[in-house]
Amino acid sequence: MKSKFSKILNKKNRSKIVCLTAYSKNIAQIIDKHCDIVLVGDSLGSVLYNYKSTRSVTLDTMIEHSKSVRIGVKKSLMVVDMPHNTYRNSSEALKNAKTIILKTKCDAVKLEGGKKIYHIIKALIKNKIPVMGHLGVLPQSTKSFKVKGKKINERKNLLKDAKTLEDLGVFSIVLECVESSLAKEITKTINIPTIGIGASVNCDGQVLVTDDLIGLNQIKVRFVKRFANITKQINSAIIKYKNDVKSKKFPKKIHSY
Ligand code: KIV
Repeated sequence: MKSKFSKILNKKNRSKIVCLTAYSKNIAQIIDKHCDIVLVGDSLGSVLYNYKSTRSVTLDTMIEHSKSVRIGVKKSLMVVDMPHNTYRNSSEALKNAKTIILKTKCDAVKLEGGKKIYHIIKALIKNKIPVMGHLGVLPQSTKSFKVKGKKINERKNLLKDAKTLEDLGVFSIVLECVESSLAKEITKTINIPTIGIGASVNCDGQVLVTDDLIGLNQIKVRFVKRFANITKQINSAIIKYKNDVKSKKFPKKIHSY
């Protein structure tokens, strides 16, 4: 039987890889049917907890949400973000990655960064921990969320980082807010899939924060397309419920014991 990883790798140059975030069981259950990869992103820090940055997300928070997501994910590859300050050196990274995998039963972990964390990614992979890379805008460490790859030096470094991450053995790389032609060049150059977010159609796959695309999280950024307005639907359901409670139409006999 083909492993979940080889299924993802085999999609390179064949068909697009669909990836979405989930923070809990119910959403995970819905998206699992349609995704190749379900990511428990540390974006939950801003999306659910209103933190100013993902830097405040803790290991315990990631683990609890991931345990819930695990219940809903049956077929997709499940990846969990290692939060900020949980991979400052190789031994810390190894200890925490092992904990994440043991407690959440996820398939892989994702770490943000290039050159600065080569040695950490190497240590994880040497210890058989599957790793997804993340280059471009790195929300755990960047202050500026501006597109990456406009300057020549930045382009060279990003391409080098992508090649090195591939050599180290990551199974795919998220490219966040990477300029389109550079995303194309990276995608052509490396043999593992690139998953874009704000990195154009030139990547092998696409990831979005589910809450953004369904309109549950009301943010407006260029790279998000809103495919539904769930907030509106929830609102009208709640109004109907409120009216039924107030007018004593609910609960009826059939809802009572
Ligand atoms: O935290 C997250 O949700 C992510 C994706 C946006 C790639 O890293």
